[in-house]
Amino acid sequence: MTFADARPSGGFALVVPIAKGADIRKADLGLDEATVEAMVHAAEGTRFEGDTGKQVEIFADQDGEVRRVVLVGTGASGEDQAIEKAGGAVAGRLQTSGETKLVFDPRALAERGAAARLAYGALQRGWRHDVYRTRLKDKLKPTVKEIVAIGDAAEAEDWARYEHVYAGIALARELVTEPPNKIYPESFVERCREMEGLGVEFTVLGKQEMETLGMGALLGVGQGSATEPQLLAMRWDGTGGSQERPVALVGKGVTFDTGGISLKPGPGMEDMKFDMGGAAAVAGAMRALAGRKAKAHVIGLCGLVENMPDGKAQRPSDIVTSMSGQTVEVLNTDAEGRLVLADVLTWVQRNHKPRAIVDLATLTGAMIIALGHEYAGCFSNDDGLADQLIAAGEKSGDALWRLPLGKPYDKLLDSPIADMKNVGPREAGSITAAQFLQRFIENDTPWAHLDIAGTAWIKTASQLRDKGATGFGVRLLDRLIADNYEA
Ligand code: BES
Ligand code: MN
Ligand code: ZN
Repeated sequence: MTFADARPSGGFALVVPIAKGADIRKADLGLDEATVEAMVHAAEGTRFEGDTGKQVEIFADQDGEVRRVVLVGTGASGEDQAIEKAGGAVAGRLQTSGETKLVFDPRALAERGAAARLAYGALQRGWRHDVYRTRLKDKLKPTVKEIVAIGDAAEAEDWARYEHVYAGIALARELVTEPPNKIYPESFVERCREMEGLGVEFTVLGKQEMETLGMGALLGVGQGSATEPQLLAMRWDGTGGSQERPVALVGKGVTFDTGGISLKPGPGMEDMKFDMGGAAAVAGAMRALAGRKAKAHVIGLCGLVENMPDGKAQRPSDIVTSMSGQTVEVLNTDAEGRLVLADVLTWVQRNHKPRAIVDLATLTGAMIIALGHEYAGCFSNDDGLADQLIAAGEKSGDALWRLPLGKPYDKLLDSPIADMKNVGPREAGSITAAQFLQRFIENDTPWAHLDIAGTAWIKTASQLRDKGATGFGVRLLDRLIADNYEA
């Protein structure tokens, strides 16, 4: 990905964006008359109107070189992420087309940041993870190796930020996509270690340390697994110490969720490799923030554990004591994410006094029933924080929808024998899960819980992402910090 102030010479596919409804002849696309006329013809013939990501393509003779020229719509003005989506749609279409070099020339849009955003979208859509395909047919292999975006120094400056957010998204997607025999708690930590090179400070707690701290809730979940649980804390301070209290980002990192003794049904269980999507989003956000040297103090926590059935696994009706001292009757070993998060929340509050906490978790199947795959659920004890998150969601494209919390829901977790049980009734399953977490928030610290069960993984491709891991949360958290917590 490079910037240039004029189109290069030689072979490439030329991509020119155009706003919805704009007249192709008058849009000043930098094309000769014959090409414009051919394009008008092709646009009319395919009912092209400039809707976001819609494309018309022709092959035209340009300066003695026959090249593919793609006109891509950027929709009506004011549409969120339209330019990113346009870049993504083109990348999705041309990735394996045989083209090796794409030149995005958005000068006709006369919009600052357009070149950088096209490229950002193209990279998001182009991400793939082919490391386990040893027999991929040549025709199915990606061919695009190079993207040149035409823009000035200001564009390059914008790119310096997007580049790192993209790297964060890519890291999150990789962690989620990798299978659970490759990504387990310790190897998750190792994959993140590259961030030390960016100035991120790592603290890792193993089983022994967690036992000493009394993290019975987290440890109970991992006790049936042959892999050792880990608590990963990544600290980034880009303020030189001027922000004493960090923002804490907390991720559920269940590297595989079989359900434990409350075993999940076989069909679809493979999906549960993405049950560490919250932890992956936190890691990706830390990668983005450190990469772009955000002027903020942020601590990213990943509660990493595998939930397995075993002779040593915890049983439904076991009672565990959390680090907070509260006891939990584990009625369903498949409601494990909240147990993991509970101890991580206590640990970060005791050790770092965060000014705000945002947790992300693929926490409940009920969230998918409520919101599908379009929005993640947002629960919060603080209207200000919830508003910041929802605004960041709209701006970044990782959309959130707020759901309620309240005493009557909280009561559903009361246990006849312990301080609480880990499951409520079937109804309002996502809300009672959030209520459970809230019981571990001390002194009304501003806190929000994002249930990303429906958004961490998608089964159909869209303009900005192929099917599979989405990296949901990285763009959102980066925006949240940029707009509200940077000095
Ligand atoms: N990781 C699952 C939630 C999940 C399910 C995420 C499907 C994405 C897709 C979580 O640990 C879980 O199993 N939750 C249970 C809770 C129930 C036992 C109260 C659920 O949603 O069924
Ligand atoms: Mn579960
Ligand atoms: Zn789970």
